[in-house]
Amino acid sequence: MSKNTVLSMQKQKRAGEKITMVTSYDYSMARLVEEAGINAILVGDSLGMTMLGYADTLPVTMEDMIHHTAAVSRALTNTFLVSDMPFLSYQTSERDALANAGRLVKEGHAQAVKLEGGATVASQIKAIVDAGIPVQGHIGMTPQSVNAFGGFKVQGKDADAAKRIVEDAYQVQEAGAFSVVLECVPAPLASFITERLDIITIGIGAGSGCDGQVLVYQDLLGITRGHAPKMVKQFGQLGDAIVGCYKAYAEEVRSGAFPAAENAFALDEAVMDEVRKSF
Ligand code: KIV
Repeated sequence: MSKNTVLSMQKQKRAGEKITMVTSYDYSMARLVEEAGINAILVGDSLGMTMLGYADTLPVTMEDMIHHTAAVSRALTNTFLVSDMPFLSYQTSERDALANAGRLVKEGHAQAVKLEGGATVASQIKAIVDAGIPVQGHIGMTPQSVNAFGGFKVQGKDADAAKRIVEDAYQVQEAGAFSVVLECVPAPLASFITERLDIITIGIGAGSGCDGQVLVYQDLLGITRGHAPKMVKQFGQLGDAIVGCYKAYAEEVRSGAFPAAENAFALDEAVMDEVRKSF
């Protein structure tokens, strides 16, 4: 597979070829994503929930994002790497936005950054893009605004709300973003936006009309426990498989079956004799 770049993914959009993106937060998983030939990895601030156990993404820090982005970057050769800007790392000013985006690139080795919001963050997107850092927007259900939305809910259900999302999409494009994530947006609205925008749309809970899709890997692999939201498809049941492996390991340790002779290192009997004689 050849190297994925902003240009190669724009070419895919123009050719009508779907773009694939998944989240990753660590080296081991990113290596598998790279092996699978996925176009892009998002080190999402969803790591606050999936890796750090928070109830939402709001407590995630720049240090968290840099730490995980750098780990993922060490696994990648061809996969394009996008890192999320955490809550209050860009909303405060253009200067903060640029400084923090720069850290994700310089210290985390991200190739692009993602930030949430449309019209309200257009000037921050422009400031980052003007500095030569590709930006991916994120509109619709933006998890950093969960308290304003009153929960993780589908957005754009009435005409006014739907028009605001279209307006946001245009603002993100005009500000210079190369792509925009559409999260929990009704499918016909996401298709409408995708047809009109020149930039790449990546959907999550936004139907099949987007230029590409993103999923949180724990959802995709069936690692997330409990109820799976409607927008998620589990492509495997790795959670059950992992629990099965841990149980089998524990059972063999308890019974003494593991480690077997082939898992242990031998020592010359003469050497052991010497050791015994000395104690
Ligand atoms: O943080 C994240 O994982 C995201 C995706 C759900 C798009 O923003």
